Parts: sequence; structure tokens; C-alpha cells
Amino acid sequence: MEKEKPDNTQESYNIGRKKVLTFPAGFLWGAGLSSHQAEGGNTKNDWYFWEKNSRKVKEESGAACDYWNRYEEDHKMAGRMNLNSLRISLEWSRIEPEEGEFDDEAIEHYRKMLIDMKANGLRRVVTLHHYTVPLWFFQRYGWHKKDSVRLFSRYAEKVISELGGEIEIIVTINEPRLVVNRGYLVADRPPGKRNPFLFWKARKNLVEAHKKAYTVMKNIFPDLPVGITQFTNDFDYFGKGRWQNWLTERIENFYNWHFFDEIGDKQDFIGVNYYYGAKVRLGYPFYELATYEKKVTDMGWGMMPEGIYEIIMDAWERYKKPIYILENGIADSEDRYRAEFICGHIRAVHKAVKKGADVRGYFYWSFLDNYEWNAGYSMRFGLVEVDYKTQVRTIRKSALEYAKICRSNELEI
Ligand code: BGC
Repeated sequence: MEKEKPDNTQESYNIGRKKVLTFPAGFLWGAGLSSHQAEGGNTKNDWYFWEKNSRKVKEESGAACDYWNRYEEDHKMAGRMNLNSLRISLEWSRIEPEEGEFDDEAIEHYRKMLIDMKANGLRRVVTLHHYTVPLWFFQRYGWHKKDSVRLFSRYAEKVISELGGEIEIIVTINEPRLVVNRGYLVADRPPGKRNPFLFWKARKNLVEAHKKAYTVMKNIFPDLPVGITQFTNDFDYFGKGRWQNWLTERIENFYNWHFFDEIGDKQDFIGVNYYYGAKVRLGYPFYELATYEKKVTDMGWGMMPEGIYEIIMDAWERYKKPIYILENGIADSEDRYRAEFICGHIRAVHKAVKKGADVRGYFYWSFLDNYEWNAGYSMRFGLVEVDYKTQVRTIRKSALEYAKICRSNELEI
């Protein structure tokens, strides 16, 4: 049956018994990677130190996916998979390996990578801080020290004055919530502290660091959208009752929205990373999480696509700013649930678009299998499978489903 192509205002139409959900024109369809997880050979940052010394990490990152050397092959593949954007991060420790000394070669390398992305039809979303900081910053400072604000904005200024023309969207800080919770309360990530006082200081400094970097970057490139992205959960409480609802709301405000609230007008979009809903009860720090869905990913996270709808609507009602889903994905080594996961979440994103939320893009996490922090290489999130011995890449079956959506800007259900 001939399908009727909808105009831009039409959000869904039917082909026979199938319903087709159409996304707004210009919607970004992408996937993500981060420097330490994918590049390989990052030996001058806090995570490398942590891998060697903390005993909280399953294995070392080593060569990762060797994306630093294989980016041309990877960008070509992304283009062939119909992605129109890619999210990467810059490695601060490559750009500023010693305090105040910037490495021109590393900057040139990133310039080539960004130009190559464009040549493959990929819009460039760039994160400045995706968990790792240079070793000198880790040893001399840390986010709990006031100097972190000045040091981060100096790095941001350097990046933007050198590479700003090759970037479409800037994310200053990936998941500040996790940076401080895991680094300053749970202590399973660097700097490995369990100290509520330093936790509060680090929170405050991360907010200030973002704000200062925002101002500095906007002075150079006023039209470049700048924001943060946050790890969000759709929270629910064990048991029902007034105080449980009250508490769940407090937890949600604190975990999902606190940073956005504090940053206020110094953000041009709201970045959402969403993986799972969570049932909570009180515990350390603040609460314990549990999964209650039947389908569980290799990470032990329950699949709960409708949660992304709740998060988007919450973000939209609170901030009325463009929203980008900058991470949503599943560790699924057998590729059993990935296609269902992707389609289910994209369907829920569409529901939010239909309700009026200004969602501008969806980025699957991750483009390639990569180094999953404390869990090492066992967790396979990729649209593309990586054989770490040979570095051979294989596009997963589920990725073909995603490629269809990316090509047509539509989801058939
Ligand atoms: C992080 C990624 C990570 C993913 C899966 C996000 O919290 O930004 O670096 O790989 O979750 O755990």
C-alpha cells in the first residue's frame, strides 16, 4: 500500500494496520561514546590511576575500542547506519596533560575527528567532562576545591576558541549527580571519598564550573547551545502513603533536577540520560534502589520505557527548554532485548513530543561496545559489537532496526 507522506504538523498516520509515528523535521538521531570508554591509551587521568590502584574496578581500560586511531572507520560506519549525529567527549587530560600546558597535537587530532564526523553527515555533540579529569587535577585539586571552577572554565575556553567552529552542541558536564554521589559518598569512583561535607562542596563547585564555562563559551560563540546532561530515574517508593509520596518527590527533585535548578538560565537545553525506573527505600546514601520490572538488562536494570515519557514531561513542565535525550541504552550481550528496548523508548519519546514537549534528539548509548567503568568490558551496550582482541566491529541486528528509524525519521508500530 502506498503510504501518504505526512506534512510536518502530522504526528502519526497509518499504513494498512500499521501505525507510523513521525518525528519533527530535523530531529537528531545519534549514538554516544566517551573518551575514556572508547579512545584507548588514556593514561594521564584519574580513572587510569583508579583502575590501577583502587581495587574497585573489574579490569583496566587499556586500548578500549582504539577509537583514537580508528575514528575514520567508525564514523563511516555511523553514516552507513543512517545516524545523523554522534556524541563524543574530549579528554581533558589529552588537551591539558600538565596544568596550564595545552597540547596542540591533541587539539589538532580532535579537530580532524570533528571534521571527519561532519564529512560523514554527523552533527557533533561534544561533552567536555565525561567522568575523567587529568591526573594533576585529581592529585592537586578535585571538584571539592574552589580552584576547580577556574581550571575547568580555562579548559572550556581553550576548547571553544580552538574547536568551537566544529561543534554543534556542547555538554559541559556529564551526569554531575553521579560524579558527586559515586565520587564523594559511595566511594567506588575517583576521588573515592565518603565525606558529606566534601560532597556538598563538590556539588556547588560543579554548578559554578558549569556556569562560568557557559559564560566564557557564550562570549566566544553566542549561538552555540550549551548545557549539561543528567542521569535521571523515574522514582517510585516501596509501599504507598502520603509520606512515601512526599519522600519520593524530594528524592526525585534532588537527584534528577537539582543541578538544572541551580544552573538556572545558564543552560540552553536540558540533557536527559535515562536507563531505568527505580523503586526506592531509605538507605545509604539517602536511598536504596531496586528493580521490579520483569525484563532486566545485563546491568540488572529493569526495562521501563514509559519512565522516559514521565521524565521528559517533568523536564518540559519545569524548564520549557529544548530537550535532548543524550543517553538511553541497554547492556545486552545476546542482543535479545535491544530492538524492543529502543523501539519502546522511542515510542514513549514520541508520546511526549505529541504532548507538546520540545524534544530535539535521541542518542542511543552506546555506538560501540566500550569500557563500562567499574564493570570493565563485560557490559555490552553497543549498537556495534567490538571484538576487543582484534578490534573487529560487527553491526548488531538490533542496530538495523534503529537504522530504519534514523533513515525515515519515523517509528512503525
Ligand atoms: C554514563 C556512561 C555509561 C552508561 C551506562 C551513563 O551513566 O554516562 O558513561 O557507560 O551510563 O552505565
